[in-house]
Amino acid sequence: MVVLSKPGIQQFPVIKTCKSATFFSGVPLIDLSRPDSKNLLVKACKEFGFFKVVNHGVPGKFITKLESEATKFFSLPISEKQKAGSPDPFGYGSKSIGPNGDVGWVEYLLLTTSTELGFQRFISIPGQNPENFRCTVNEYVSAVKRMACEVLELLADGLKIQPRNVFSKLLMDEQSDSALRLNHYPPCPEIQGTDGRNLIGFGEHTDPQIISVLRSNNTSGLQISLGDGNWVSIPPDESSFFVNVGDSLQVMTNGRFKSVRHRVVANSLKSRVSMIYFGGPPLSEKIGPLPSLVQGEDSLYKEFTWFEYKKFAKSSMLAANRLGLFEKVPAS
Ligand code: OGA
Ligand code: NI
Repeated sequence: MVVLSKPGIQQFPVIKTCKSATFFSGVPLIDLSRPDSKNLLVKACKEFGFFKVVNHGVPGKFITKLESEATKFFSLPISEKQKAGSPDPFGYGSKSIGPNGDVGWVEYLLLTTSTELGFQRFISIPGQNPENFRCTVNEYVSAVKRMACEVLELLADGLKIQPRNVFSKLLMDEQSDSALRLNHYPPCPEIQGTDGRNLIGFGEHTDPQIISVLRSNNTSGLQISLGDGNWVSIPPDESSFFVNVGDSLQVMTNGRFKSVRHRVVANSLKSRVSMIYFGGPPLSEKIGPLPSLVQGEDSLYKEFTWFEYKKFAKSSMLAANRLGLFEKVPAS
């Protein structure tokens, strides 16, 4: 990675993306209405830790309503957006991602899904109706969470483990530490014509939670790492959801499922709006390989609480291999 210094776009990280300019056609496609989806889901989580879901049951109007709230918010002057508070843990952020110096060509709004807390801040922002916003977020999150739980139950079935809510119960728990993130990547015309280089929108990382469900508008930018070091671009699809396996699910499945490394590159012409539901366990939940999945094999990870892991993730750079610290050293 090189750092491009150009007046106006500060010192933003850029990457060469010539090779991945074409879209990847191998994204596993999961049709939730088909009876054989559980086996395809398991295969996708083992191979990529990433898949696309159709016939997902989330009403289109919930999606368009939330996208239009997000667009309305992001089109406000920065001084108004800042009234939402800093993103620690819930609020508005711009360019800076986390407290460790990561930057990207992005602005975002982090929202809690578990309490009503936070929405009152929107009362002082012109054009923002906190009640409407809260309702729109709640109906979207409930529907997406239901779908995420269905996926997690099918995964338990596919792995032949009991009870089938072994993963989904962590999202269903009243104390579940889940979040909704709205990301806006403004177009970045300055970068055009600079020999296939792209500005980083959101640097490479894995999501620390159990599962993430992403929906974006029709603008490209999302890329995943195939594990062999190659990055590929994911064709956008505004009517489907993309699902990422998170670090916690990798640990619970004793490494069978892979938490996918992903990133977003800025688009020179169009703005990208994405909304991501992060399904996380309660803070006090102990995360470790499930006993039923370590029979006859070594446990690859030390147990940790979600609180510990979240704290550690926050204190490390985006691109860090955070699970490294919790890997067990194989006995020699
Ligand atoms: C994230 C993320 C991708 C996107 O917020 O963790 O990976 O398309 N976002 O915004
Ligand atoms: Ni992510």
